[in-house]
Amino acid sequence: MKNKSLVSINDYSKEEQLAILELAANFEKNPTQKILEDYVIATLFFEPSTRTRLSFESAVSRLGGKIIGFSDASSTSVKKGESLKDTIKTVCNYSDLIVMRHPREGSARFASEVASVPIINAGDGANQHPTQTLLDMYTIKQTQGRLDNLNIAFVGDLKYGRTVHSLVMALCNFNCTFHLVSPFELKLPSSVKIHIKEKNLEYYQYTTMDEILPKVDILYMTRIQKERFSDPIEYEKIKNSYILSNDMLNNTKDNLKILHPLPRVNEIDEDVDDNSKAYYFQQALNGVYVRQALITKILGIK
Ligand code: CP
Repeated sequence: MKNKSLVSINDYSKEEQLAILELAANFEKNPTQKILEDYVIATLFFEPSTRTRLSFESAVSRLGGKIIGFSDASSTSVKKGESLKDTIKTVCNYSDLIVMRHPREGSARFASEVASVPIINAGDGANQHPTQTLLDMYTIKQTQGRLDNLNIAFVGDLKYGRTVHSLVMALCNFNCTFHLVSPFELKLPSSVKIHIKEKNLEYYQYTTMDEILPKVDILYMTRIQKERFSDPIEYEKIKNSYILSNDMLNNTKDNLKILHPLPRVNEIDEDVDDNSKAYYFQQALNGVYVRQALITKILGIK
């Protein structure tokens, strides 16, 4: 994995993904180690973020590394018309690794092709979010004891939800069964479903979530991605399609865990937070350990 960019989750083999999860478990036991003192990591966020940017920065800080970057491109020379290529080539001069989030699909791949340092895709439009996938896999393994042969429900915006796209692709290596719950307009794209079909795995599509709740091991809730809609009226029509409440969890499996990449808007009632099946804040914490593991693997330190 040394010097290997992570743009699509499939850029890393199943074995490489599992090696990151194994190393992340070590960082969970000991997250503060001064092993990045000689390194500068750039975080370039052209789109808003709380968890991804701050957990990357926390991961680097706990390992003694330095961070440069921005959380708002309007304070940079992008505002003056600088191209993505020129921004990336410039930041390569100042850093050993670039973490980048951008609203345009394919932007991270483009950056990896012009960069002289590795690129980590922290989300490119509605395409992929591979580091979220690694922390989701870590969390699923942590809560279920395995990644194989699980029944997983994805609920919400499966069309624009980049975390769903990359997680479905990764779980295709683990013989999972997929329950896909979305409004008709927000179904999982064919470009992702094709990965399920290639592995001869089963998927089922629904527009309501009631019938799947008693069956599943993981309930992966997602936000309807307002920022991806060209027509605000369309968003208003479907924004509250799914709202999970405590009473809906009564007949669910004992091992069920509710995940959500966050941010949440309305799709999980706050009452659910106190339910022992809610696991989304622990999931966000796991982002620190998994990102520590990923960074040190790419830099060739661990
Ligand atoms: N999960 C996630 O990507 O959250 P942020 O948008 O807050 O980074």
